[in-house]
Amino acid sequence: MSENPVSSPMNRRTFVKTVSAAGIGVAAFGPQLFAATTRPTGSRKRYAIVGVGSRHHMYQDAIERTYPQHAELVGLCDTNAGRLELARTRSTRNEATPPPAFLARDFDRMLAETKPDILIVTTVDATHDDYIVRGLLAGVDVITEKPMTTTAEKCQRILDARKKSGRNLRVTFNYRYSPPRTQVKDILMSGEIGEVRSVDFHWMLNTHHGADYFRRWHGEKKNSGGLMVHKATHHFDLVNWWLGAMPATVMATGKREFYTPTMAKRFGLQSHHERCHTCPEKEKCGFFMDLAASPSLKSLYLDQERYDGYFRDQCVWNPRIDIEDTMNVLVNYDNGVTLAYSLNAFNAWEGYTIAFNGTLGRLEHTIVEQVYVNGTDTVQGGIAAGGVTTRVVPLRGEPRTLEPWTGTGGHGGGDKVMLDEIFLPEVPADKYQRASDERGGAASILVGIAANRCFETGQPVKIGELVTGLTPPHYAPMPSRTAPLPMPAKVGRLPS
Ligand SMILES: NC(=O)c1ccc[n+]([C@@H]2O[C@H](COP(=O)([O-])OP(=O)(O)OC[C@H]3O[C@@H](n4cnc5c(N)ncnc54)[C@H](O)[C@@H]3O)[C@@H](O)[C@H]2O)c1
Repeated sequence: MSENPVSSPMNRRTFVKTVSAAGIGVAAFGPQLFAATTRPTGSRKRYAIVGVGSRHHMYQDAIERTYPQHAELVGLCDTNAGRLELARTRSTRNEATPPPAFLARDFDRMLAETKPDILIVTTVDATHDDYIVRGLLAGVDVITEKPMTTTAEKCQRILDARKKSGRNLRVTFNYRYSPPRTQVKDILMSGEIGEVRSVDFHWMLNTHHGADYFRRWHGEKKNSGGLMVHKATHHFDLVNWWLGAMPATVMATGKREFYTPTMAKRFGLQSHHERCHTCPEKEKCGFFMDLAASPSLKSLYLDQERYDGYFRDQCVWNPRIDIEDTMNVLVNYDNGVTLAYSLNAFNAWEGYTIAFNGTLGRLEHTIVEQVYVNGTDTVQGGIAAGGVTTRVVPLRGEPRTLEPWTGTGGHGGGDKVMLDEIFLPEVPADKYQRASDERGGAASILVGIAANRCFETGQPVKIGELVTGLTPPHYAPMPSRTAPLPMPAKVGRLPS
C-alpha cells in the first residue's frame, strides 16, 4: 500500500530562496468579507500558497495570469519537492518570475521571509487546520479550500485562532457562486414559494469521479474525513446558505457497499491489488486508471512518487479504504426546517436533485454534471448540455420552468465569479452574501462530522455540542416565517 502523503518521509532537497521581503504592509482582504472593498491603486496583494497539487492551479493561474495587476505570488510550499518544482515551472510558462519554493518543514520561514498578505491553503484536508492556525497566528489572512478541516477538535483550534489573531479566514465555497445555484437562492429569497419547511436533496457521484475518491488520499478518513466531510461540505454548505439557517441536530447512517474486496471478486477479479500502475489484472478491471497515459496525471503524480511514495492510482477495491460510499442523513435546522439528504458514490450519473417544500409551493432543481476526473483536462463540476432544470410549482396553478442562469468554466461558472470577488480590488456588495468565513466553514463540516459520529454510535448528534464559540454566519435575509400568507386560490371543480 502506498504511504499516506501526510506522514510520508520527505526528500530533503532544498530550494534556493530568492525573495527579499518587499515592504508592502499587511492588510486584510476586507474588514468584512461581505462588504465592498477598495484597494489603493498600484498596490498588489502578496499571496503564498501551501499545497501545490491539482487544485492550486486555479489559484496560481488566477494570481499570475488573470489578476497579475492586483496579485503577486511570493511563495510556494509543499511536502513534495517535485510538485514544487512543477509549480515553479508553471510560473515561467505564465511569463511570471518563479516564486521561491519551500518544503513544508520550512513553512514558518516562508511566512517570515516572503511576508505574504494572504496565505492560500490547498493541501490534503486533514492538514488544513495546521496551516490555517499557523498563518492566522503569524498575522496573515488565510483563504482555505473546503473542507475547512476534518474533525471537531481541529475546527475548534481554527475558531480559537481566528478569534485570538483577529485576522480573516475565508473558506472558498465555489458552489455558491455557480449561476444556477445563485438563481435558486434568488428564488428562495423572493418568497415565491413562501418559507421553506423541508428539503429533499440527493447527490450522485458516478463511477468516474465517484470512484476516484477511493483511489486517492481521500479514501482514508484520517486524510479527508470521508465523503461526509470532504464532499458533502459543499452540499451542506449550499443548504445552510440557501436556507440562511444553522444546522442543529443530525442523524445518519453510512456504509460501504461497492468499493470493497468482495465486489472485486464479484466483478470477476482474482483479488484487490495495491495500485493500477502495476496491477496484474489491469486488462480485466473497468476501474483501471492509466496514470502514464495522461500527461497531466503523469507529471503531477506518477513522476513525483519518488519524493513521497504517494500513489494517485490506488486500487478502488483495497481494504485500506475506510470511507463510506452510501450515506443517508437527516438534519434539523434552528428555524425548524428538516433536510433529508443522501450521497451515493457509485451512481449511473453525476449531479443532484433538490426540492424545497415551501408554504406557497415547491422549488425543484436538478443539475447533471459532465464526466470529470481530477488532475486531467476535464472541467471540474462542469454542467452537461441542457443539464440544469429549475421549476417552481405553486400550491395551486401551473408549474413555471425557469431559464437557467449560466456561466462558463469550473463548477458551472462559479469558480470565475468567486475568483473575481477574491482578487479584484473593487468588489460590489453581494446581495446573496456568497463569501464565507470560518462560521460557514464550520457549519458545513460539523454536519458531516456529526454524521460520521452517527455512523459509529447510531445516536443523534447535536451540532452545538461539537464546538464552543461558534456564532451563526451572516446570511442574506430570507422570507418571514410569521408574516400573513396569501390564501391559495380555490380549486375549481373537483375531479370526479
Ligand atoms: N472547491 C473545490 O471544488 C475543490 C476541488 C478540488 C480540490 N479541492 C480541495 O483542494 C485541496 C487539495 O486538493 P487537490 O485535489 O489539489 O489534491 P492533490 O493531492 O492534487 O494535492 C494536495 C497537495 O498537498 C500536498 N501536501 C500533502 N500533505 C501536505 C502537508 N502536510 N503540507 C504541505 N503540503 C502537503 C501534496 O504533496 C499535494 O501536492 C483539498 O483540500 C481539496 O478538498 C477543492
